[in-house]
Formats: sequence, structure tokens, C-alpha cells
Amino acid sequence: MRRLVLPVLSTLVLLAATLPALAQDRRADEHSYAEPDKVRITDLALDLGIDFGLRELSGTAILSLAWADEDHRELVLDTRDLKIATVEARNGSRRWKAMEFVLAPRDERFGSKLTITLPRQYEQVRIGYRTSPEASGLQWLAPSMTAGGKTPFMFSQSQAIHARSWVPLQDTPSVRFTYTAHVRTPADVMALMSADNDPAAPRDGDYSFKMPQPIPSYLMAIAAGDLVFKPISPRAGVWAEPQTVDRAVKEFEDTEKMIEVTESLYGPYRWERYDLLILPPSFPFGGMENPRLSFITPTVIAGDKSLVSLIAHELAHSWSGNLVTNASWKDMWLNEGFTSYVENRIVEALYGKERADMEFVNSRNGLKADLAEIPVEQQVLMLPPRTGSDPEDALGSIAYDKGAWFLQFLEQRYGRETFDPFLRSWFDSHAFQSVSTEQFVAFLRSELMAKKPGAITEAELTTWLSSPGIPAFAPQTASPRFDAVDATRESWIKRRTAARELDTSAWTTQEWVYFLEGLPREVPAERLVELDQAFRFTGTANGEIAQRWYPLTVRSEYFEARPAMSLFLRKIGRRKLIMPTYEALVQTADGLAFAEQIYAMAKPGYHPITSASVEALLAKAKAAPAP
Ligand code: BES
Ligand code: ZN
Repeated sequence: MRRLVLPVLSTLVLLAATLPALAQDRRADEHSYAEPDKVRITDLALDLGIDFGLRELSGTAILSLAWADEDHRELVLDTRDLKIATVEARNGSRRWKAMEFVLAPRDERFGSKLTITLPRQYEQVRIGYRTSPEASGLQWLAPSMTAGGKTPFMFSQSQAIHARSWVPLQDTPSVRFTYTAHVRTPADVMALMSADNDPAAPRDGDYSFKMPQPIPSYLMAIAAGDLVFKPISPRAGVWAEPQTVDRAVKEFEDTEKMIEVTESLYGPYRWERYDLLILPPSFPFGGMENPRLSFITPTVIAGDKSLVSLIAHELAHSWSGNLVTNASWKDMWLNEGFTSYVENRIVEALYGKERADMEFVNSRNGLKADLAEIPVEQQVLMLPPRTGSDPEDALGSIAYDKGAWFLQFLEQRYGRETFDPFLRSWFDSHAFQSVSTEQFVAFLRSELMAKKPGAITEAELTTWLSSPGIPAFAPQTASPRFDAVDATRESWIKRRTAARELDTSAWTTQEWVYFLEGLPREVPAERLVELDQAFRFTGTANGEIAQRWYPLTVRSEYFEARPAMSLFLRKIGRRKLIMPTYEALVQTADGLAFAEQIYAMAKPGYHPITSASVEALLAKAKAAPAP
């Protein structure tokens, strides 16, 4: 057995940083060192202990292998900050034998390549390892950061390339595998995974899981804490802390109806149960589509179901993403664009076209605003290979909103009677496969374009796929309810109507969002006071409103909002909700100082993904000081 020792490692890190060769080591998927054309993981068996005191997972991972190249004798895996203790291999149920391995120096974005040299093409490899307390894909919460305040909590967030920080594996969406897991926790802690969670499992600190459908690594997930279950329907329910579970069941009571609507459009739900796990407010995303168990931010429990499109979104991934998976992150629109489109269809079916249209308009306004910031070469759906960037940066509106817009364009040109079955057949014929944009385009040509020639032109297709921005011929969504908001806003801006007199009684979150986004970038502070007195934006529990209101107060120097804003930034770790306020703050020297103060207090409660985003923003602002 050979292992690199640390002093050697640090010099190699320096060396490696200067060597472009590292990029060439990542083959099929530029974000993974794995070589799936040589050998693939087909099954993973985990045996892990969760240690809240040490903040680590430790145990073994057994990888079952399918060799594709008969001359190959190496297994290359992705890892990040893992301590690898042992590597063994075997055939059948024979004795495990120790194998040689090299853990390469750590690359800042991609982690450490683990190369295992095998004298023959073994069927199984077993790795003994432990995670680092700083694992980029795990968050460890002290009891004080939970709703109950008594039990610690931990959860994973593997997408895009963080699974490698808690399991050594081929961390690319082009490889799928089944898994089993045996997980040990303190006796009062419940553990869940993206697998067959049994609502009736005794809580005893010893849990077993099975995921019989093959999934890509980014859908590996685990969570543990004081979690209880309440059903919504026979196959759907909510896991949450006892303090949150009833509110969540009420808010998300339409989940079963959402599953039924999606099944009627796109075919059967193929994952048996669909449960929601409500996380503490530090969860860095809105939702994460972990199979059978979507992870959900508590910030969408608004009390009026106004933000449940997020559940529709994560559920929709059970078809677009989890069933038919983007083969690499440059194809992410196949996951997120399709899902945003399906999400809107679910919302339309359950809550009506007015609401679905408002949601489309709001997200497209976000896209239009983002276009000013996104480099033109990244504004396309058909991205060239090796755009080399951090896949996290791809959490952008091009994949989501331009992708969904393209599908809506196809829907309108072909009609739902043709387009809906087409989409269903895309899911059916590629179920449990990883797919590229090129494959989708080929399928589109043969299954849709060839069958109704002339409905769209080649030039239109190419424009959608390969031109920046939004095509001039994209369908436009009108919203009479938003027209009314425009009129109301105008009347207030022109001082024809005082804030208290505005007719907003029937407004939903969508209308408030649209109202706030349509205000001038800066508003005299005393006018914000007037709005605040009428509508109590400062201190709002609705994150979608807070996310737009606080930046406006910053730009408008309405300092009275600062204490509530500071609370919001410290309590919530969902990146999308808090980054706009940090971004507004760092525009001035005084704001930057305030942002740094808040961040220093908030950091212990933030997820590593959120901390990384805030730190990058603060560093950039300090490098180019504001006036
Ligand atoms: N799969 C994404 C979250 C994600 C994307 C995590 C890329 C890491 C990298 C999830 O389905 C998602 O899109 N969540 C959105 C909510 C949605 C309603 C737009 C979010 O978290 O804001
Ligand atoms: Zn998504």
C-alpha cells in the first residue's frame, strides 16, 4: 500500500496549480476525474457512522464494477477532503486484498483524484475512509440551530460535485448506480437517505436503506436529526422536526395531486414513495430533488401555499433529471429547463393559468435582468464542451428560464396534443439514462420535426440552441393581473394614491414580487417608510418579498430596515434569498463594512456553499473598493 504523505502533498499542490495537465485528466465530464469509458460503478454499498461530535462520517464504501476496456487495470475516483484509510479488492465473496492507491494533490475546484491500481479486473473495491469536518457537501448544525434546540442535525447537498466530499465515487452524472446503506447514529437521532425511507422504521440509531433504481452520484443524499413523519397521502408525506411538521403538511397538502397531474401528462411516477424533508433555514437552496425524498427549505412555508411551485419543481425532477439525467453539467438545461417547464404545467393544472403565467413572467423578468451580466457565449443552450467553469455557476437563468421558454415555444408551435405525448416519449425512451443536448436535438428532429414539417424552421431551432439572448420570435406571456399591478404601482409613484389606499387586498406573493421589481432602483427613503407602514415589508416572513425589499432599502439608504435585514441575513442560509442583499450592500464602503459584520456573525450558521458565495463577493468588493 502506498500513500502520499502530507509535506510532499503540499509541494505538489503548488506544482499542480501551475500545470494545465490537470484539466486534461478529466475526461468525459470536465468536472470529474473518472474514466467511465474504461470502468463503471454499478452498485455502491455504504456502511457509515455519523459522529456529530467529530462532525464526520466514517466507514466503508464497497463499489461494484463493470469493466468496459479489457486492458484497463486502474480505477480512478473523485474525492474531496476525504481521509482514505484502506483500499481493498475482491472477486465474488473471496477474501479482501489490500490494493495500492495514490491520492493526488487537492485541486481547488475538483478535489483529489484517487487512483487505485489493480493487478486484475476485480469485481469489487472496498474503501475505508472518513470525511473532513469541512466537507463541502455536508452541513453540521449544533442543536441551537434547529427548531427543537435539543438534537444536532446534519444533511448533505451533493449537486453538483459535492458527493465526492462524503463518498469516494465516480462523481459524474453520466454514471448511474444502485445503492444500499447501513447508517449508525446516536439512538435519539433519525437518519434518512435518498432511498426507501420507511415511515414506520423504529428510531433506534441503526438504519438500513436501499435504492434499487440506478441514480447518478449527485442524487446521493443523507440527513439526520430529530425528524418525524406525517403522511399527506398513502405514497407522500413530510419528514420534519416536530415543531415544523404540521405547518408543512398543511402547506404542501396538494403534493399527491401534483404527482397525479404529472403522471397524467408524462407517465407513471417510477420511484414508489415521494416524501419531502423540511430542513433548517440554513439549507443553501430552495429545494433539492433527492430521489424519493426532496430536500426543501422551510422558507417556502408561507402559510398561503403561494410558494408551492417549488414542490412542483422538485417533484418534476422525478421525470426530468432523476429519470432522464443530464450527462454532464453543460447539459444542465435538460434537467432544469425541462423541470421549470413541467413545474409551470403542474401549477397551471392545479392553480390555474393566471398563476402559472404570473410565475413565468416573474422568472423571465429575472432572466432578462441576468442577461446583462451573463457573458454572451454562456447565453446558449447548446454549450460547447469544456467551458471549464465551476458547475455551481451554472445555477443560472439560462438553463432554467431560457430552457423552459424554448419548450413552451415548441409546445405552442406543435400544440399540446402533439407536444405532451412527445415529451412523455422522451422520458419513457430515455428512462434511467444520462443524455446530452445532442441526443435531445436528434430526438426532437426525428420524433417531432419530421412528423410535422414546417411547424418550426431549422433557423429557429438553431437560434434557440446557439444564439445568445432570447429569440425575437419567442412566445410572449401576458398577465392581466400584472397589468393591474403596473397601474397600481404607477398611481403610487405619481402620488395619485397613498400606499394605504392602494387596492392590494387580493394580491398574492407573485403580485408583490412584481410590484417590488417594478419600482425604480432607488426610492426616496421617506417613500419607503410610507410603503412599509402600509405593508410591513421590513421583517416579512416571506423570503421572496424580503429578497427584493432589503436590496431596495439598501440602495435607497432606508437605514431603519437594517436591524430586521441583519436578522434575515443571519437566520436564512438560502443563497438565492440572501445574495441580492449582500450584493446591494457591498456597493458602498459603509454597506460593505456592515455586510462584513453581519457575515462574521452569520458564518457559523451558514452552509459551506453559502459561505463560499458570500466570501467570494466580499473579496471581490474589497479588491475593487467602492466609493
Ligand atoms: N437541482 C436544483 C438545485 C441545484 C442546482 C443545486 C444546481 C446545485 C446545483 C433544484 O431543483 C432547484 O432548481 N432549486 C431551486 C428552486 C426552483 C424552484 C427554481 C432553488 O433552490 O432555488
Ligand atoms: Zn431544479
